[in-house]
Parts: sequence; structure tokens; C-alpha cells
Amino acid sequence: MSRYSKGAIILHWLMALMIIGNLLGGFLHDYVPKEGGQRAFVMGLHTSFGLTIIALTLLRLGWRLANSPPALPHYFTAGERLLAKAAHWAFYIAMLALPFTGWALTNRNDRPLMFFGLFEVPKFGLDKATARDFGEIHENLGWVMVALLALHVIGIIKHLVMDRDNLLPRMGVGQPRG
Ligand code: HEM
Ligand code: HEM
Repeated sequence: MSRYSKGAIILHWLMALMIIGNLLGGFLHDYVPKEGGQRAFVMGLHTSFGLTIIALTLLRLGWRLANSPPALPHYFTAGERLLAKAAHWAFYIAMLALPFTGWALTNRNDRPLMFFGLFEVPKFGLDKATARDFGEIHENLGWVMVALLALHVIGIIKHLVMDRDNLLPRMGVGQPRG
């Protein structure tokens, strides 16, 4: 059975964790109390991990363009192949569009944008109204990411339960079935 390379597997799971964390932090930040700077702390992690995701996506895209992924099992239909390919590329687009629109929306206030409290990251210099529009786009793209994730996980469960095939082992989880 062919697998993704070790580097691709580590990047996949590390980024899945960060993106799911950022979806939770983004959608739920209103419920975090403002007192004692708790919400600011959560959003500081959100923006810093979000900027890290841009760098990791570029790294991963570079890897992906230089290496072909392992071939899908031969019994995949043409429709399944197309769906998997479209969903994977849509993920790459969302993994860049989501953090860039987040970066753009930070122009709606004049607070410095910090990277894990270590250094200040420049903003784009947009006016506040445009930055607020990017806020709307960021929120909508958040839902697009949730939808893609649901499609991705449903597809994998379908293959695991109905086809009993080796998709998860391709991504480094479990042993392939004989
Ligand atoms: C937001 C989180 C996630 C993102 C952005 C994501 C993204 C991706 C992408 C882009 C690929 C294709 C890699 C390539 O060929 O370039 C992939 C493959 C895969 N992902 Fe995820 N993933 C996420 C979460 C998950 C989760 C939660 C699971 C487990 C249920 C999972 C299991 C897999 C598996 C098994 C493959 C390999 C499928 C194959 O063999 O083609 N992913 N993922
Ligand atoms: C893949 C990475 C990211 C994901 C998955 C993500 C997701 C989200 C989501 C779902 C929301 C909630 C939207 C709403 O309900 O209004 C949100 C809000 C926010 N995001 Fe992100 N984001 C990411 C990256 C970034 C980056 C890189 C920045 C800035 C550098 C950023 C800044 C913000 C800010 C400031 C808010 C709060 C908006 C508000 O108060 O209404 N995000 N994000």
C-alpha cells in the first residue's frame, strides 16, 4: 500500500489540529469573557496560529506541487477521484484565503498585530470599512471550511465503514487491511 511521505503526514495532522482549533476559537470567541484579557489571549492565539497556517500551507503546497500524492486505490470510480481532487484543492484555496482575509480584517482597529507576543506583524493598510468587509468574508469562509471538513470526514468514514479500504493508513493512521 502506498502512503503519503512522513513529512506530508506530520504537516497534515499538525495543520488539521491548528485549523480546527482556529475554527473553534473563531466561532466561539464571543463566549470567552473579556475580563482579565481572556478573550484577547484567545484571539492572540487565533491570529498567531492563523499566520503560521499561511507559512505551513505554502510549504505544503510546494511539497504537493513537487511530489505526486500516492495513487488512489484502483477501484475508485472516476466520480470519486474527481470529488477527492476537487475537495483537496478547495482545501488548499481555503487554507490560504481564510487566514489572508483574517489578516486583512485586523485593519478594522489600530491595535498592533503580534505574533505570539514576540514581534509585531505589519498590516495591509486598508481603511476600516474595507477591513470590516473582509471580516464578513472571513466569517463566510469559516463556514466553507466547516463544510469542506464535513465532506472530507464523511468521505473518509464512508471508505472506512462501507468500502473497508486503506485511506486512513495512507495518512499514517492504523495498519492497512490485507
Ligand atoms: C481542517 C482540517 C483538515 C484539512 C485542512 C485537511 C486537508 C487535507 C488535504 C488537503 C488532503 C490531501 C492531501 C494532498 O494530496 O495534498 C487530505 C488528505 C487526507 N485527510 Fe485530511 N484534512 C483535515 C482534517 C482531517 C481529519 C479530521 C481526518 C480524519 C478523519 C483527515 C483524514 C485524511 C486522510 C485519511 C487523507 C488521505 C486521503 C487520501 O488518501 O487521498 N483529515 N486532508
Ligand atoms: C486557517 C486559519 C483561520 C481560521 C480557520 C479562522 C477562522 C475564524 C472564524 C471561524 C472566525 C469567526 C467569524 C465570526 O463568527 O465572525 C474568525 C474570527 C476572527 N479571525 Fe480568524 N481564522 C483564521 C485565521 C486568521 C488570521 C490569520 C487572522 C489575523 C491575523 C484572523 C483574525 C480573526 C479575527 C480578528 C476574528 C474576530 C472577528 C470578530 O471579532 O468578529 N483569523 N476566524
